[in-house]
Amino acid sequence: MEYKTLNNGVKMPALGFGICGFSDLLGCKNIILEAIKQGVRMFDTAAIYQNEEALGMAIKESGIDRKEFFITSKLWVSDNSYQGAIRGFYQSLHKLQLDYIDLYLIHRPLGDYYGAYRALTDLYKEGKIKAIGVSNFFDDRLYDLIYHQEVKPAINQIQIHPFLQRKDELAFHQKMNVQVEAWSPFASGKQNIFENDVLKDIAKRYQRSVGQIVLRWHLQRNEIVIFKSSSKERIKENLAVFDFELSKEDMTIISKLDQGRIEDSAYRIESMKRVYGLENEYGI
Ligand SMILES: NC(=O)c1ccc[n+]([C@@H]2O[C@H](COP(=O)([O-])OP(=O)(O)OC[C@H]3O[C@@H](n4cnc5c(N)ncnc54)[C@H](OP(=O)(O)O)[C@@H]3O)[C@@H](O)[C@H]2O)c1
Repeated sequence: MEYKTLNNGVKMPALGFGICGFSDLLGCKNIILEAIKQGVRMFDTAAIYQNEEALGMAIKESGIDRKEFFITSKLWVSDNSYQGAIRGFYQSLHKLQLDYIDLYLIHRPLGDYYGAYRALTDLYKEGKIKAIGVSNFFDDRLYDLIYHQEVKPAINQIQIHPFLQRKDELAFHQKMNVQVEAWSPFASGKQNIFENDVLKDIAKRYQRSVGQIVLRWHLQRNEIVIFKSSSKERIKENLAVFDFELSKEDMTIISKLDQGRIEDSAYRIESMKRVYGLENEYGI
């Protein structure tokens, strides 16, 4: 495993396992235990995934020292305020059966996320959180947050995959010394990513799977990556990406798959409606 050192000196595994969508308690616990068996130590969950209990149970059941794990959780938007964040954090901590969380993120920049960030800062100072950060922040919001806060976010967890590469934003994060963590590294398995001819051709040449090529591409762009899989074989396969390197030429070939798509206005409004769960006064 490779590690990244975050801007506060905390070391974080470069590759981890996301558990979004695993909602059945026992099923989720079992897949986490399988991932632990395969060597995964970094897990990504969130209050909204409703599976923090399963992660806590699996960590306990594994018998492995808690210090070996790197656990991320995220505050949901309904708790985006100072008091809400304190409450949300302790709820997560309790469900995870932990006494500290390695990385705790503001899931989305909505509502009073400034108040929430101040609460995270206080929890960080108390040692309850080892590193604080954000998720789904576009670069202008990130810049504004950094400008107004005492503790710089260590991470911004954003969607990146070969069809959505966000090259300029990556460069911006690097300049600001904020580590990028890629969610949906395989585009959630959509857009026929595993059948893509360009990726298949590269995979054939390296005698690797498309999944491994994609993860390698992320890692070589200095991202931290969290993948998801419900298969023991594919978890094992996805972890075996530290013994080869993509050439500069192949990195360039993959860079041409970018479709430059950032969700349009209709998508963003739909997404807001999903978050708040109601029609707004404008009827959209
Ligand atoms: N911060 C946020 O707002 C946010 C949003 C979304 C996601 N996330 C995080 O990112 C994590 C990962 O994103 P994601 O869940 O969208 O999925 P993803 O990792 O991009 O893709 C998962 C899909 O890829 C397939 N897959 C995995 N490895 C494979 C391989 N080697 N070969 C072929 N197929 C493979 C899986 O199928 P099988 O299960 O059949 O293997 C599944 O269909 C989430 O679990 C969550 O922790 C964060």
